[in-house]
Formats: sequence, structure tokens, C-alpha cells
Amino acid sequence: MNRREYLKAISILGAGILSAPYLKASEPFLNPELKASMFGSDFLWGAATAAYQIEGARNVDGKGESIWDKFSHTKGKIKTGETGDEACDFYHHFEQDILLMKSMNLKVFRFSISWPRIFPNGTGEINQAGVDFYHKVIDCCIKNGIQPWITLYHWDLPQKLEDKGGWTNREVIKWFTEYADFVTKAYGLKVKNWMVLNEPLSYTAVGYLFGIHAPGHKGLKRFFPAAHHTTICQAEGGRIIRRNVKDANIGTTFSCSYIEGIKNKPKHLKSVKRFDAFVNRLFLEPALGMGYPVNDLPVLKKIEKYMLPGDTEKMKFDFDFIGLQNYTREIVKGNALIPYLHGLPVPAKKRGAEITENGWEVYPEGIYHLLKKYAAYPNMPKIIITENGAAFEDTVEDGKIQDIKRTDFLKKYLEQVLKAKNEGVNVGGYFCWSFMDNFEWAEGFKPRFGLVHIDFKTQQRIVKDSGLWYKDFLGK
Ligand code: FCB
Repeated sequence: MNRREYLKAISILGAGILSAPYLKASEPFLNPELKASMFGSDFLWGAATAAYQIEGARNVDGKGESIWDKFSHTKGKIKTGETGDEACDFYHHFEQDILLMKSMNLKVFRFSISWPRIFPNGTGEINQAGVDFYHKVIDCCIKNGIQPWITLYHWDLPQKLEDKGGWTNREVIKWFTEYADFVTKAYGLKVKNWMVLNEPLSYTAVGYLFGIHAPGHKGLKRFFPAAHHTTICQAEGGRIIRRNVKDANIGTTFSCSYIEGIKNKPKHLKSVKRFDAFVNRLFLEPALGMGYPVNDLPVLKKIEKYMLPGDTEKMKFDFDFIGLQNYTREIVKGNALIPYLHGLPVPAKKRGAEITENGWEVYPEGIYHLLKKYAAYPNMPKIIITENGAAFEDTVEDGKIQDIKRTDFLKKYLEQVLKAKNEGVNVGGYFCWSFMDNFEWAEGFKPRFGLVHIDFKTQQRIVKDSGLWYKDFLGK
């Protein structure tokens, strides 16, 4: 297998982490009376989105270009040829959307800030209209009794910074610090709940290693510096929020997948260990003060080249919560001839597993195992499920979307979250991905993850049956 074939094969994992026919008949779920109240009165409930996926308004009011603007306008990068230029036009519909959230009994809205909307060039000059936009969104949430939870970085790096190497350039620590400092000072009096990064593995691996996401680079060379600078920014962002926001609740988020071997044999299990280090531990453990999981994934030694004295200390931060994001599981087949990971994931479809529209296995028990795994770390703070959800093909009939499979998916995953909670795991919230259908990165608008259906031509919103179920499940 040559380098190109290897990257292609393993990019299943990249696509699986982020983006990955038909669902078999579902098992009856265990508890037909499942209600939010069973999770306790202080458990937080909401839904999540990200700026590039929903806002649209690409060139409006002084916004700068992001790597996703450029990438989606590059031929062949988005499967459907679409762009996020308009997306859900949340920029002009936010009041209506927040009112809809309220009507659906959501208590938390997780959204991200578009860095180039605030700093069109990445650093320096501020775009006041962009600053004002998020003030309006935040004020509208607060007025309607919805807690705003802000992610500082959900993948839309200013293109001007990518032109200087983006996450591979150590200067990014300075750029990110300036951005994080500005926004936490701007909104810190109103917003107490912050997440530094969204899924560092996704944007470093899928963007700088597999080339499937923006900025579209392939090969290991850029991955290591991008990963290391990300790890430092993850902790640095936490320190900035702590300094600027009184009574802040600070977290950061991680994509994670439960990983198992195709058989219980040493060659598969060895590969499972490597995959686990890559997928689930790479960015979490440095934050917990454990450094990179080099022993279980020796290729990570290559990161050391980018480390300066004192960096190990700088990678740590005492987060108030960890955001766990889970969709699926991976089954790995060991093969010592495969470099680095000594195995490859076996696509769920090939295994005949129950899958979502984008090929991810439906495996509710996975979220339970991951919660237990995270909770077993010494010093693990509270865990919040900051993303979980499913894409299924939806049809609008008589103004309704009867998305039984999505509702079923949510119920089954929630049951597993409750099981872990009842066994003592400190899990304190669940935010469904996503509030509404949106631009699913390299997959375009095809996979629909929303509780709310969007007609991308008319911008009409319709609450799906899953959204109505969630509303009822949450209660007033
Ligand atoms: C996650 C991303 C989110 C969305 C979902 C489906 O990995 O954080 O933006 O694309 O997957």
C-alpha cells in the first residue's frame, strides 16, 4: 500500500469522526417513559450549531474570508458542489430561530463565533458589525431564557491566517490569544459558559492530514505542528477565559468514538490501542496534564520536534467541564503492515451494521462506554455531551417530517447516558446536534442532522417530529 492509498483508507476514519443506507428495524428502547426529569433538575438540555454551518452572510457587514469560504468555493472539495454562503441564513433569522428554541423548551443554545466576522484579517482590525451581531444573538437568548454557550473555534479560521501557515505556524498561539482575549472581554459579562475548541482532532486530522476538510492539506508533515499548536491554544484559551470572565464555566470539546477490535485477538487489540490513542486521547490527555499518549502511539514522538521548553506545562488546563461528542463506533482490523496505526477501520456498511445516512454506525452503547472511560481518568471534571445526533433522509409530507429513526436514535443514546449517570458518572448536560439542518462541511447540505427542517431555498423552518418529541421529553 503506498502513502496515497494509506491516507485514503484511513480517511474513512476521518470521515467517520466527522462526516461517514439503511437502518435495520430498531430494538424497542428500554424505557418508554424516558423523560428529562430522570436526569435530575440541574441537568442541562439544549442543542448545538456552528457559525459556518448556519450563519450564511458570507460577505455581509465586513466579515472576512474563512478557510471554509475558500475551500467550499474550490471545485471538487464539497461532494454536492454547495457552499455555506447562505446556509440557514441564521445571520438574518436568529430572532426567529431563538424563539423557536424557546418554543421547543430548550434551555441551552451552543453556538460558535466566526473568528473572521470579528477579525476580518485574523488579527488587528476589529469588525464592529460582527461584534454587534453576537451581542444581539446573546441578548436574544438571555431575553428568552436560553443560556448561551459559546465555542470560540469551530473550524472557520480566517483565510488570511491560513495564508501564513494557519495552525501549522506557531504564531497561531498569538493570533488565537488575541481573538480569545477580545471576545471573552466583549461578551464575558453576559456569557459564563465557554468552550475553547470544537473537536481538535477533526480539524487537524481531516483538514491538515487527510485533506478532506479545509484547508485541504494531505500528509503527516503539517499534522504534527497543527496538532501541537492546537493543544497549546486549547489550554491557553482556558486561561484567557479564566482571566477575563468572572464565574466562568470553562470547557473544550472532543470527538470520540468507542473502538473495538474485529476479533478478540492480540493483533486487532494492539491496533485498537493505537486508534484509541489517536482518536480519543491525543488532545484530552495533554489537557489533563498527562502529555501526549506517545507510548501507545509511537508516531506521536514526531510532535516533539515542535515542542519548546515549557510547552508540557502550557498544554495543561484545569477545565470545569469536558465536552464529549459522540456519534458512532469504529471496529478495527489489525494489520502490522499498515504504518503507524497497525490496522484499518472496517466501514460499518461492510459489516452489515445499522447505519445513518452518512454511513456512521448506530451504536448507542458506545456513548455509555465512552462516558465510563472518560470518568475513569483521575481529575476528570464534569462531562457534558456537547454533541450527539444523527443524519437520516427526511421527507416533508403535508408540512410534517416524520423522522422516526432520528427520534429513536436520540432515545437510545439518551438511555445510555442515563445508565452511565445512574452508575455515578458525573455527566451534567446533553446538547443535540443539531438544532437545525445545516451545511455539513465536505458533505454539503445532504446529511440532515436537525431537529428543525430547513428548506434551503425558502429558509422556511419546520420542527420535525424528533424536535416535537424532544420538546415533549424536556417538558416546560
Ligand atoms: C461533528 C462536528 C459538527 C457536525 C457533526 C455532525 O464532528 O463538530 O460540526 O459536523 O460532527
